[in-house]
Amino acid sequence: MAVKFCELEFERLKKLLLSYEWAHRTMLTKLSIIHDALKVERGAANPIGSIAGRIKAPESIAGKLHKLNFELTAESARKNLFDIAGIRIICSYARDIYYLAGLIREMPGINVTTEKDYVTNPKKSGYRSYHMIIEVGIYHSGNIETLPVEIQLRTEAMNFWATLEHQVKYKYKDEIPKHLSDELISCADQIAVLDNRMFVIQDIVSLINGDNEKSTDI
Ligand code: GTP
Ligand code: MG
Repeated sequence: MAVKFCELEFERLKKLLLSYEWAHRTMLTKLSIIHDALKVERGAANPIGSIAGRIKAPESIAGKLHKLNFELTAESARKNLFDIAGIRIICSYARDIYYLAGLIREMPGINVTTEKDYVTNPKKSGYRSYHMIIEVGIYHSGNIETLPVEIQLRTEAMNFWATLEHQVKYKYKDEIPKHLSDELISCADQIAVLDNRMFVIQDIVSLINGDNEKSTDI
């Protein structure tokens, strides 16, 4: 049966989630400005494909706290979970991931607390993405509150793979049969090779076009 917060903690969590929502929105706005600026500067070579975000639902927060053996309280969620607010940036090419991670590190008003490079060091499952936990400050009710936001940077192909693998994991309740997990690992490896080959082609195209050529396709 699904675990749930008691009524009092649920009310506290709802209030806390508002702060996460504001931090999340603040970060999404900062990123969408970077996205717009890169469209102007880089045109067709824009390193950002798309940006998406979500706030974790109370049921998922309860489920994760329970799985990790933490207390089912709003305070425990704040202390122990770092992906309540999540943002996913889909990059055009694999090396853009590092360029964007660098931009995020330099962004004023935010603080990067954790970075995990599953692009260079993929997980055993084959999963590849670059993860950052950043702290965003928001001002409300006369106070500054700092909240974590998880950012995942990956290419379109890595995203395609992660979505499929997630569905498979869900279907098999985390126990994927070996032939399928082997196949997924092999697909992930091939995707990494393709991601690299594609940016070599892109390099050639931008060399032919000249660095500053801009696309009108914004
Ligand atoms: P979670 O408890 O799953 O959030 O993991 P974590 O706190 O140890 O952080 P980690 O960096 O390992 O993973 C954070 C998030 O990355 C997950 O919530 C997923 O969205 C994604 N992720 C990590 N590993 C995998 C994987 O093997 N497959 C897929 N599809 N997604 C993954
Ligand atoms: Mg997570």
